[in-house]
Amino acid sequence: RSQAVPVVRPAAVPATEPQPATRLTIVYGSQTGNAKRVAERLAQQIEAAGLPARLVRADAYATRELKNERHLAIVISTQGDGDPPDDARGLFDFITGKRAPQLPELHYAVLALGDSSYPQFCAIGRRLDERLSELGAKRWFARGEADLDIDTVATPWLANALAAAKEAFKPQTPLPLATVTPLRPLAAAVSAYTRDNPFPAELLVNQRITGRGSDKDIRHFELSLEGSGLQYEAGDALGVWPVNPPRLVEAVLRTLELDGGHAVTHGDQTLPLRDWLSQRRELTRLSRPFVAAHAARAGDAGLDALLAPDRAADFARLLAEQQIIDLLQTYPAAWTAEELVAALRPLAPRLYSIASSTKAVGEEVHLTIAHIEYAAAGDHSEDRLRWGAASNFLARASEGEKLPVFIERNERFRLPKDGTRDVILVGPGTGIAPFRGFVQERAAISASGRNWLFFGNPHARSDFLYQLEWQDALKRGVLHRLDLAFSRDQAHKVYVQDRLREHGAEVFAWLEGGAHLYVCGDATRMARDVHATLLDIIATHGGKSSEDAADYLNELQAQGRYARDVY
Ligand code: 2AM
Repeated sequence: RSQAVPVVRPAAVPATEPQPATRLTIVYGSQTGNAKRVAERLAQQIEAAGLPARLVRADAYATRELKNERHLAIVISTQGDGDPPDDARGLFDFITGKRAPQLPELHYAVLALGDSSYPQFCAIGRRLDERLSELGAKRWFARGEADLDIDTVATPWLANALAAAKEAFKPQTPLPLATVTPLRPLAAAVSAYTRDNPFPAELLVNQRITGRGSDKDIRHFELSLEGSGLQYEAGDALGVWPVNPPRLVEAVLRTLELDGGHAVTHGDQTLPLRDWLSQRRELTRLSRPFVAAHAARAGDAGLDALLAPDRAADFARLLAEQQIIDLLQTYPAAWTAEELVAALRPLAPRLYSIASSTKAVGEEVHLTIAHIEYAAAGDHSEDRLRWGAASNFLARASEGEKLPVFIERNERFRLPKDGTRDVILVGPGTGIAPFRGFVQERAAISASGRNWLFFGNPHARSDFLYQLEWQDALKRGVLHRLDLAFSRDQAHKVYVQDRLREHGAEVFAWLEGGAHLYVCGDATRMARDVHATLLDIIATHGGKSSEDAADYLNELQAQGRYARDVY
């Protein structure tokens, strides 16, 4: 273990902690807060039933405790490309690794969260479930695999957990609640507006900030939170409930030859089909269950073949590159309106990293969003146009319109409490968003630590987002260093990680001096490559083996000094 980074550990377990066998331990690993929310619900239900529960975030869970556990519930999400959430990386590596002990006395249950638009749906929860079984632990009750409509699966899973906990703990004298580790108070409800009761925020600004000649349509949005009571901190996200693109809804209706005015009852709701498709159903992101349902109707040998296990790579490409409408157009099949509403997933809100600090903009929230709009296979006819659901919803909104929003906290993407600390910000493309908020915040509180920003995009001329603001910040001394990677302004590609590497000695010196490092933007390529580059920098300039460099970076992560907000 590297000694260079001071180790800050959560306080030791207090002596009053109940004996392990007599309580349910609930561990969660959460990237955007969904798994945390479900785990908190479980803890509340268990405690409300007078049963002992302990709720622990995965990175605060000491893995040596595993041997002593008797009842463990794990609620964990899977990130897009099959990674664990950042806070659960250590626990996941431990349980799936060689050092994990046999756990013959453990009863466990896993609730996996995921997004079936991705081929690695719920992979982390599945892997943990399998691995714990390999280690001799007993599956307490069946794993749940929740899609974007989390509650459909989470609610029955929670009911199972509560029933099982009542069973397991009944014969024992219940512990007085006072001795149970108190749950952390939930984030203070400062506003009546939540995910399920969003605030209609007035759109103040909808402005394209990429210049002429850019391949991208990146927009700067400003919304008013006045009167909402909604508060956010730099690093939080804004949730937006989109309405699907009307032109897409019509294209789907035309393709399936369905009548948008036809009333469809699903569950306890009756709405015209057009409203279901506009406001209630996921209409852009393809999922495996939908492909399977469509394949069953289409009777196309080629599509059926794609679902076979040995075609996983082709299937992953289908999910990544095609939308629902592509599938409907490529493989004709008959759907009734009722079947379609039942097969499509409920519409989910999109989360965007907030690009402002309240201390600079008051009761406003700013966003930096790439408007996704393209013509499938270069064919510009009406039925071949494609959009991102929420980016198009925002892009087509006019100033003065009210849009349904809520705040999603992101406790793990926070500026250092100590303003004297330096920060390194790596945010190419729209990954710049939270760092505009960070720099505004640090300027507003007159933080004395230095701010070093790495930004990249294709071309300086058209894609230098917030150029004037950064130049002004440099002049005012609230931004100390700015390193740019305009990838296509020269013959060979230059990326932010190339700039990090060029300045590797200084990057390492900043880290040694206590700097916090943040990465925001593309998860699959950029964040991976930046991570690998950081390992190289630490190994090279810290004179470390690759294992020690990995330990060093893990330690930074555990201390909240290496935080990522990637998508
Ligand atoms: P490119 O599109 O020219 O390849 C924001 O999208 C910026 O990130 C663009 O300049 C893009 O470059 C760049 N980018 C693409 N892949 C990347 C990677 N693996 N690592 C870092 N930056 C990347």
